[in-house]
This record gives sequence, C-alpha cells and structure tokens, in this order.
Amino acid sequence: MKIAVIGTGYVGLTTGVGLAEIGHKVVCIDREESKINKLKNGQLPFFEQNLEELCGKNSKNGRIAFDSDMKEAVGNADLIIIAVGTPPHPITKEADMKYIHAAATELADFLQGYTVVATKSTVPVGTGDDIETLIKKKNPKADFDVVSLPEFLREGFAVHDFFHPDRIIVGANSERAFNVIKNLYSYFADKTKILHVQRRSAETIKYAANAFLAMKIHYVNELADFCEKTDVDIFEVAQGIGADTRIGDKFLQPGPGYGGSCFPKDTLAMAYMARQNNVEMGLINTVIQGNNKRKKDMAERILLSVKGIENPKIAVWGLAFKAGTDDCRESPAIDILAQLLENKANICVYDPKAMEKAKILLGNKVSFAENMYTAVQGADVLVILTEWQEFKETDLEKVAGAMRTKTILDFRNCLDKEKVKAGGFAYRGIGRK
Ligand code: UDX
Repeated sequence: MKIAVIGTGYVGLTTGVGLAEIGHKVVCIDREESKINKLKNGQLPFFEQNLEELCGKNSKNGRIAFDSDMKEAVGNADLIIIAVGTPPHPITKEADMKYIHAAATELADFLQGYTVVATKSTVPVGTGDDIETLIKKKNPKADFDVVSLPEFLREGFAVHDFFHPDRIIVGANSERAFNVIKNLYSYFADKTKILHVQRRSAETIKYAANAFLAMKIHYVNELADFCEKTDVDIFEVAQGIGADTRIGDKFLQPGPGYGGSCFPKDTLAMAYMARQNNVEMGLINTVIQGNNKRKKDMAERILLSVKGIENPKIAVWGLAFKAGTDDCRESPAIDILAQLLENKANICVYDPKAMEKAKILLGNKVSFAENMYTAVQGADVLVILTEWQEFKETDLEKVAGAMRTKTILDFRNCLDKEKVKAGGFAYRGIGRK
C-alpha cells in the first residue's frame, strides 16, 4: 500500500519505518523542514534501538521517503496516518488538538480516490467524529473513512514493540475501512490478535490502557512505602502477587514515580474527559496527585540524607524518564532535581544518553559529569534515578574511593543491597527491608 504518515516523532517515525520494512511504500511528513532534511540525511531526531539502521535501509531501497509538503504524498496515498502530538493544554490539561486539526484541515483538499485517514496519536474519545466532519466540510467530494489505530509502543522498545505488538486495535465504523487496515497489517495476521472495534472504543482503549498502567505503577510504589515501614521486601511481594495471572508480573517495579511523554499527559487527559462527561473517576485523580507527591517525597529523602553536612554535594545518576531512551519529558529525575535546586543543593549529574536533552531543561544549574565516576567525586550522596545497565554494573570500589560520604539512595533498586553494604556504604533502596 501507499501510505503517508504525518508527524515524525517516536510514534510517526517508528510506524513509518516499520510499515516500510514490512513492504509498504511510505512517505513521512513533517512541517519542520529542518527535521525532514536531517531525516533525508539519515539523522534521526531521537535515539531508538535499531531505528536508524532500519530507516537507512528502507530509505536506500526507496520504500520510505521524507517530505515537508504533504500534497503529493496525500494525493497518492491509500492510507494517511496522523501521528502528531497531542500535548496537555497548559491550563486545563486536556489533550491539545491543534496539531491534529491542522493536519486534518490541510490534508482534506489533497485527498484523491478512496482514502482511509487513521489517527495513531493518542486522541480524546470522539476525535474521529470531529475529523470526519472537518474533512467533509472542507472537501465535500472526498471519498474517505476515518479510523482509530491507537499505538502501544514503549519508548526504548519502539522498534521491538512495532514488530511484536500484544494486539492490534482497529477502530473502524465501516467494513470497507477495516479491510484496508486488515491489508495494511496482513504481515501480523498470523502473529497477533487484530481486534476490530468501533472507532470511539479504540480511542478509549488507548487512554484506558495507559491510565491502568500508570495506576499499577503507582500502586506498587505505595506498596513499596508500606514494605519499608513493615520490614518487608517489595521484590518478594511483587513476585508473589505478579504470579497471579489476573495481576501479571509486568510493571511491578517500584521507582521514583512514572514519567515520560505519555502516562502523565494521558492520565490528565483521561481525568479531564471524565470531568467533561460528569463521570467520577477518583482513582485516576488519586494516581495523578500521588505520583506528583512521590517525586517530592523522593527529593525530601535526598535532602534528609545530607542533613547536617556542610555544603553537601549530591551526585545523580540518571536523567532520562527510564532506561533505554534519551527522553527527559516529565522525567521524575528532572522534577526531583528542580526540588533540590529550590533548596540550593550543589548537584553533579550523569546519564549515558540523556545529557544533551537534560541540558536544555537544566541549563547551568547543575554540573554535567564526563562519566558516572567523575559525577561521584567528592559527593556526600549518590542518587540513582534511572535504571541504566551501566549503573547496575557499577565498580563499587571506584565509587567508594571517590565519595566524601558513602551514602547511596537507589531509587531504582539497581544495586545489590548486600554488596553495597559490604562495601561500607549506607544504602537505601525502594521498598527494600
Ligand atoms: C507507555 C506505555 O507503556 C506504552 O504502551 C504507550 O504506548 C506509551 O506510554 P512509555 O511512556 O514509553 O510507554 O514508557 P513505559 O515503559 O510504559 O514507562 C513509563 C514510566 O513508568 C517510566 O517513567 C518508567 O520508569 C515507569 N515504570 C514502568 C515504573 O516506574 N515501573 C515499572 O514497573 C514500569
């Protein structure tokens, strides 16, 4: 099939490259010409395992192209995928639809022949109806259907998740449109479930899934607090409850709070939609407030650990919102650092991938270390906020030799508690006995 993908972020670019890899002809469109020019030269706007190689390969064999003008690509397309951002509105926190509406308005006039327009961005329930009305109004002659194709890929695993989806959700109100999407995903037909639901159901499934996952994480974080107060080990509790297939053993790692470009915005958007429809969804509001409070609690723990030390130096390992990505959007590390800086803390940070993106957010308010060991030079506490593999393989002797006070706050439970204590450190994990 000939496909136009509008938006070259994590979802749009990964989807475009993945669809090219499974044999479709794809044009990725972005209104930012600088981004398109970089993509034409094989430079990706973000780091994702294997994406660069796959993108290069499919560019070379002509299966994927990049353009900042959508006219030609939309005119030739059998399918248009809208994968632009839906950031939270700064005040109301509802999903800001300006980019979605701009894309739909622009593409309307360029439609040729029967075309399916799919939203892959996470969009509020009813967005497909709005897009349908918008396109019909702008181009009454257009022959098209609007479907919802929610995306479930995780950052850091984007390419993996594209090729190994748990399920594919197709929100289509017509058989004609559903058949086009069945053809699009024929590669997956014998590999995973393809669920055909109504369009509004598909739009709801996305928010419902992310809100549930955020809730599950917040639950295990609160459970970790309980374990700390009752001399219980969260690892054993998580193992015990995770063995129940109704609970499942994924997303039971406690940490400093969830972050990223999805859970924070999608929980806020879901809470907004609930209010808008006069539905009481107290659980989601509790999760939002609880997760924000958790980051403050983590900052308090850090300040408490250096209380009484003259001009304490705080070393922080990890800035990305999770390992495997350079993304710092809504990263708990950034929020925690902001809290520490309010207390005039002297901070040195290190992250294997996210330093450049963190510098944009932190400026010169903290110092950026060359490597993980220079970060701990003369430090009175080492705080681990992202579970990078290299932190798990730390040379504890090197750390001990560099620190002024040997205290480690391991907010990702990366280190072996016994080894760290044997190394003469004061150690505190999350939910550990
Ligand atoms: C999430 C959803 O998983 C994905 O399906 C959706 O498409 C986009 O949003 P992502 O935001 O990339 O993906 O990251 P994810 O791996 O879900 O982690 C989200 C946050 O939860 C991170 O801050 C992570 O550190 C945290 N987390 C995750 C935990 O604290 N504990 C866990 O056990 C899992």
